[in-house]
Amino acid sequence: MDPRNLRIKGERLKNSLEEMAKIGGTPGGGVQRLALSDEDRRARDLFLSWLREIDLEIMIDEMGNIFGKRAGKNNNLPPVLSGSHIDSQPKGGRFDGILGVMGALEGLRVIHENRIETPRPVMIVDWTNEEGTRFSPAMLSSGVWTGKLERDWAYGRMDIQGKKFGEELERIGYRGKQPAKRWPIHAYYELHIEQGPILEKKGKIIGIPKGINGLYWYDVYVEGKANQVGPTPMEGRSDALCAAAEMILKVNKLPAKMGENMVATVGEIHNFPNSRNIIPGQVHFTVDIRSWDDDLAIRAWKDVEKDFERIAKKRGCPLRIDKTWSVPHVTFAEKLVKRAAEIAKNLGYSRHPMVSGAGHDASYVSQIAPTAMIFVPSIDGRSHVEVEDTKWEDCEAGGNVLLHCLLQSASEE
Ligand code: GLV
Ligand code: MN
Ligand code: MN
Repeated sequence: MDPRNLRIKGERLKNSLEEMAKIGGTPGGGVQRLALSDEDRRARDLFLSWLREIDLEIMIDEMGNIFGKRAGKNNNLPPVLSGSHIDSQPKGGRFDGILGVMGALEGLRVIHENRIETPRPVMIVDWTNEEGTRFSPAMLSSGVWTGKLERDWAYGRMDIQGKKFGEELERIGYRGKQPAKRWPIHAYYELHIEQGPILEKKGKIIGIPKGINGLYWYDVYVEGKANQVGPTPMEGRSDALCAAAEMILKVNKLPAKMGENMVATVGEIHNFPNSRNIIPGQVHFTVDIRSWDDDLAIRAWKDVEKDFERIAKKRGCPLRIDKTWSVPHVTFAEKLVKRAAEIAKNLGYSRHPMVSGAGHDASYVSQIAPTAMIFVPSIDGRSHVEVEDTKWEDCEAGGNVLLHCLLQSASEE
């Protein structure tokens, strides 16, 4: 068969996504498959069984990244790689991450059953802990694999219960032997839901991002003075939660203040001891700033940091701030971006050029290998929530674009 006529099986892709959605499925129709949880382990076990069915050579590295390799005619040539992540947000959706893994698997199934011989090897990957919700930061294991983050630092990252990444990786049995060290990659493609409203609004099926916004993460610890709420006068209190509340609103107003070319969010907050009749003694909250314009994001942080210091002083609540993580914006490989758009056009799918507002493993991978992404619409622009949804036919369209991106890149001698 002429490989140009190959198409993925939309029904099989749907079934794979539905099978995966059962693992960690929530009553609200989403999934909760936090990195290195038992649900992550079960989903990995199922993923591995599917890789074995199509005779892929399996490699698991010391960060738990899972690779499956299909040999090419010339295995000395760097492979084409594609995948995404199996982990999810708490009460997250059925498509974020897993679509890119199941899409690449479907592509490989089609290549396998049609006995297509590609000059280059084709590989699939599940990157560990993309979400950064249980263990911050996000994209932790593609970060280590690409050499941008330290393995031992990653092993020491702790969840809210004090469990370490390295120990949990061991516990679920996915601490592999292969060094988590990059090797030459000819091209990397990641299929993903858009996670925003643009494609739906424009009525387009395939989004072609030119790159990913810069991401800046901070952890803020506000120290107050805990005390009995009843007898303690309002005058002279050091209420850590009130200080944090003022700071949080400053973060929310930051994009408008800086001219809108950015977003800024406080999504996580921990109040201690969290009792209705104790004045809050300590608050920990996170700040997430994103922009294509990295200078703007950094200036925005400096600006809001000054506000934080002023509020802390006024309320008698000293501050500690950790600059947890940052990844500057990345621009994808022009050739691969054009290729994805061209393939979408030839397959008859409408297209829209855009920028990714969400972070992806493609961000780190693009720093070491030619990279592109393929987006499909998110219904109502909703994601990281249980109602996250994408039409099955759009998943299929994205899978077809991915398949042909893989085939074309794998044919380059
Ligand atoms: C990852 O999901 C992110 O964009 O934070
Ligand atoms: Mn994702
Ligand atoms: Mn996500």
